[in-house]
Amino acid sequence: MVEKPKVVLGVSGGIAAYKACELLRRLTESGHDVRVVPTEASLHFVGAATWSALSGNPVSTEVWDSVHEVPHVRIGQHADLVVVAPATADMLAKAAHGLADDLLTNTLLTARCPVLFAPAMHTEMWEHPATQENVATLRRRGAVVLEPAVGRLTGVDTGKGRFPDPVEIFETCRRVLARGVAEPDLTGRHVVISAGGTREPLDPVRYLGNRSSGKQGYALARTALARGARVTLIEANTGLPDPAGADIVRVGTAVQLREAVLKAAADADAVVMAAAVADFRPETYATGKIKKQDGQEPAPVALVRNPDILAEVAGGGTGARLRPGQVVVGFAAETDDVLANGRKKLQRKGCDLLVVNEVGERKTFGSEENEAVVLATDGAETPVPYGPKETLADVVWDLVVPRLGPESA
Ligand SMILES: Cc1cc2nc3c(=O)[nH]c(=O)nc-3n(C[C@H](O)[C@H](O)[C@H](O)COP(=O)(O)O)c2cc1C
Repeated sequence: MVEKPKVVLGVSGGIAAYKACELLRRLTESGHDVRVVPTEASLHFVGAATWSALSGNPVSTEVWDSVHEVPHVRIGQHADLVVVAPATADMLAKAAHGLADDLLTNTLLTARCPVLFAPAMHTEMWEHPATQENVATLRRRGAVVLEPAVGRLTGVDTGKGRFPDPVEIFETCRRVLARGVAEPDLTGRHVVISAGGTREPLDPVRYLGNRSSGKQGYALARTALARGARVTLIEANTGLPDPAGADIVRVGTAVQLREAVLKAAADADAVVMAAAVADFRPETYATGKIKKQDGQEPAPVALVRNPDILAEVAGGGTGARLRPGQVVVGFAAETDDVLANGRKKLQRKGCDLLVVNEVGERKTFGSEENEAVVLATDGAETPVPYGPKETLADVVWDLVVPRLGPESA
């Protein structure tokens, strides 16, 4: 029998502790052996009985229970992943400074597996330089620390500090476990990813659009987050749940997408343009719904070109990168002469890598799977066989990482 991956779920004393129950359920139901290690403070929010019943494992907060098993050392040593969710400001401080005054902090010092923190707290606590320095320390040492989401906090206030959707934290756990490496290779990097398909309005009820679901771009975001990157995800009309830890910018049209990409790309180490951007938009926008006229044929729709965002960022035609040293990745969905068209596009756009995929049944638009060839400017071609979009996403990052310049900050 294959042994279940061992996950330690550390729960510290934030109001979001109750959301960690959902994370625990996802982990156990997908075949993980979960040991919950709550802090004493967190038991004010969710009791030990809940953790024990849901995990099927004993629960304790301090090092003095079952001492013959030396839990303060064993739990961390045997773990394949430690995820602290929610991570309080206090827990981040203790972890950054190597304190070991309860079972969870001892576990964090003895774990040699990947460690993931999902912080949640009020905006002021999150933004305090002490917390930010602790987060930077933990990241520098190899932990993946997710950015909190923006939204409703405890009480009536809103802002940055919200616990991300536990389903999305689970997805990150899955990715981190699947990679199985304790050193994330995108830590300290800012990556910008566009996803989805633009909609070019014709009148208040109609638009020109495309079939892009955004799933490939979201897979790129999730995998980059699991590899430690700061991710700005610029999404156009996807309706997909926000990946845990990503900064989300929502846009509708190609012009809006351009503006968002140029802004976010200004300090990015890599830009991956997975969104399907409309080449054309209607020349005019009718402020009222266009009506059928009795006995008359409809007026033709005049189109104008949209900006070529990929070429602008990559320096296609001019050779001048928007930001020198930035790695730029484009996508090309083709129906005919797929590779030949892809090679021409790679040259024309000036990007470093181009992911070329054939539009077809069960792949590319809307599907969970994809199949592609990644073309590089040095002539290298990396075929990625039919499989989950996350696999293709990881191949893209594998090819991006060695092309990255020195860290800027
Ligand atoms: C109602 C309530 C909600 C709290 N929520 C949070 C929170 O979301 N994030 C946080 O960092 N601290 C929060 N705190 C403060 C922590 O519980 C406190 O710092 C505690 O010492 C944390 O201990 P621990 O890190 O050992 O779990 C909250 C406190 C109270 C009373």
